[in-house]
Amino acid sequence: MRYAHITGWGKFVPQRVLTNDDLAHMVETSDGWIRERTGIVERRIAGPNDTTASMAIAAAIEALDVAGVSGSQVDLIIVATTTPEYAFPATACLVQDALGAAHAGAFDLSAACSGFVYGLSVGADAIKAGSANTVLVIGSETLSRIINWQDRNTCVLFGDGAGAVVLQASDQPGGLLSTVLRADGSGGELLIIPAGGSRQPITPQALEQNLHTIHMNGREVFRFASRVMDRATREVLHNAGWTPEQVDLFVPHQANLRIIEMAAKSLGVSLDKFYCNIAHYGNTSAASIPIALAEAAASGRLRPRDRVVMVGFGAGLTWAAAALEWSEPRPATRSRRTLSRLGYGLANVRSRARRLVRRLEERLFGPLEPSWPPASPGKPSKNGTHSALHKASQPSLSDHPEAPVANGVEGPRNPERGRVAG
Ligand code: ACO
Repeated sequence: MRYAHITGWGKFVPQRVLTNDDLAHMVETSDGWIRERTGIVERRIAGPNDTTASMAIAAAIEALDVAGVSGSQVDLIIVATTTPEYAFPATACLVQDALGAAHAGAFDLSAACSGFVYGLSVGADAIKAGSANTVLVIGSETLSRIINWQDRNTCVLFGDGAGAVVLQASDQPGGLLSTVLRADGSGGELLIIPAGGSRQPITPQALEQNLHTIHMNGREVFRFASRVMDRATREVLHNAGWTPEQVDLFVPHQANLRIIEMAAKSLGVSLDKFYCNIAHYGNTSAASIPIALAEAAASGRLRPRDRVVMVGFGAGLTWAAAALEWSEPRPATRSRRTLSRLGYGLANVRSRARRLVRRLEERLFGPLEPSWPPASPGKPSKNGTHSALHKASQPSLSDHPEAPVANGVEGPRNPERGRVAG
């Protein structure tokens, strides 16, 4: 029988700290209100060099280092995010390129704050089914770029960052034992970015009304969250055959300390058993659980065979929980890390070389003839050649001013991006 163990973990948070007092200069709020109603003291905000992909890559490299695995050994990359770099290509593909994961499939997963647990479930199932041996599951968010910094109902809640884990196949019992994934689309409008999708593309009017930013009915989301945190946890515990008392550590989505306290109370478990870092990062959506997990592991809160439950909720509405038995970490050696760094450097070179070859091929062999729209015989296409169409609509990623360089440590080159209002 195959099991899926977490063998590596990592996190990345931007350097810039935005405190409650800073926010009090931007909107009508106070440190006291934010602390008391949410438990948040400060959050991290992406700098000009941080993007969802660059943070995902940094967290992934740390997780691969802990697992002692190189990018080329990864079979599948899942990036859970509500703030992808582009509608397409998937942020996971940028991560794949940067890590030199030449044999990996890669896709983004959209389940808001539940996304990381959804990703874990999908990754573990791929391992158990035998279609993958090594899976990277990442949660990464740049929420500061989709927040309305004039809306005190939302801007005080969110932060940026990324967390990642490596899942690996093993015949040793343990690892991810059960997961619960649920959704209720009837509550979709409670937490939504109304514009920017295909239903309502960005228009000057949409921008004027801030429809491209987060809109939330906080009270209703709070009521929903308090209900499903308890329900999902009990369900996943039942499936794993555990009682709440037998769990060594709960790693909940960090949205509001009061929601976590209510979950602890309704489960009859001490709050000490819940890992809480919301004070420092706020709500980082899909990144919150893997950041908390990585911190818990790095700080020695987790020992081999510990019973861990992760539980999250978010837009969709979605909610999810996972029960796992913590695995023995593999001691990472310095030489293995050095080899990995060399591998990422090579991935960078390979990525640039591939782009160069593509350009050379186009120069040497000319543009491909279009298969659509069909040109009438003897008549040139109205829009010109396929090559012209291609050039107009698909600039190379490497040419983009904000493209992350393949090794991921260098981010966008536009210093204006990510600057917080106020
Ligand atoms: N500073 C000061 N006052 C504020 C602020 C603020 N930042 N925000 C709201 N208020 C005011 C409100 O205007 C209201 O004033 P009123 O009584 O005069 O109308 C008062 O405070 C109380 O407002 P409530 O909304 O009842 O405050 P509540 O205690 O519910 O806290 C909060 C609001 C923090 C948003 C809470 O409802 C919450 O955490 N909800 C869940 C949100 C959440 O988890 N969202 C993320 C989901 S995950 C994802 O998918 C991204």
